[in-house]
Amino acid sequence: MVVAVDGPVGSGKSSICKLVAKELGFVYLDSGAMYRASAYILQHLNLHIDNLSSALEKTVFTFSDNGGRLSVFIDGKRVDVTNRIRTPEISEITSSLVAKNSAVREILVAKQQEVARMSETEGVSLIADGRDMGTKVFPDAQCKIYLDASPEVRAQRRLKDYQRQGLNITFEQVLTDLVSRDHGDTTRVDSPLVVANGAVVLDTSDMTLEESIQTMVDIITSK
Ligand code: C5P
Repeated sequence: MVVAVDGPVGSGKSSICKLVAKELGFVYLDSGAMYRASAYILQHLNLHIDNLSSALEKTVFTFSDNGGRLSVFIDGKRVDVTNRIRTPEISEITSSLVAKNSAVREILVAKQQEVARMSETEGVSLIADGRDMGTKVFPDAQCKIYLDASPEVRAQRRLKDYQRQGLNITFEQVLTDLVSRDHGDTTRVDSPLVVANGAVVLDTSDMTLEESIQTMVDIITSK
């Protein structure tokens, strides 16, 4: 089974999907981490955006569960980019530049579909989150969910993430950044964020993490 989860910045996709995957024994694919790691490569190697897709063809992304936290590596296990891809600067480069590039998207979509093929071969179900999971990457997914929450709630959640990382940033800055990234993600030409056909819309504004997880587990098990 493939569960495709989409939603805007800070809708809780990663936190919820990671724990739902654990509870149901599914593989978890964080497609946003691939876009972020690509932005890191762009910045770190000082590449022009037109040269990023060829660099990505040779890049191997690896995810591993590090005591409930998702670690992200590039080039097999050599470079741990877990923290480096979660900064406001990388978020901005990701949505304003990397995610808009169709050649980059094509390569990352192929890598994401490959993860699903490997899971299928191993007989394990997959839950994948991002912006185009239900529309582009897994249009035939048996279960599609669109996670949402109000901009204020999402900004508050993101602020807590940044504070945990020790970053000095205000609520207003986070909210402005979030609204601008939402705009970029919903208006880009290639694979904009929309509610996929047949997706269940789940608004988590007034839900705790536990309630959101339980609701999602119920939706998935009902399919
Ligand atoms: O989900 P996350 O916030 O980590 O994603 C970072 C950015 O990567 C998003 O704002 C979006 O621009 C891009 N992205 C995308 N398609 C996906 C996942 C993420 O364009 N499937």
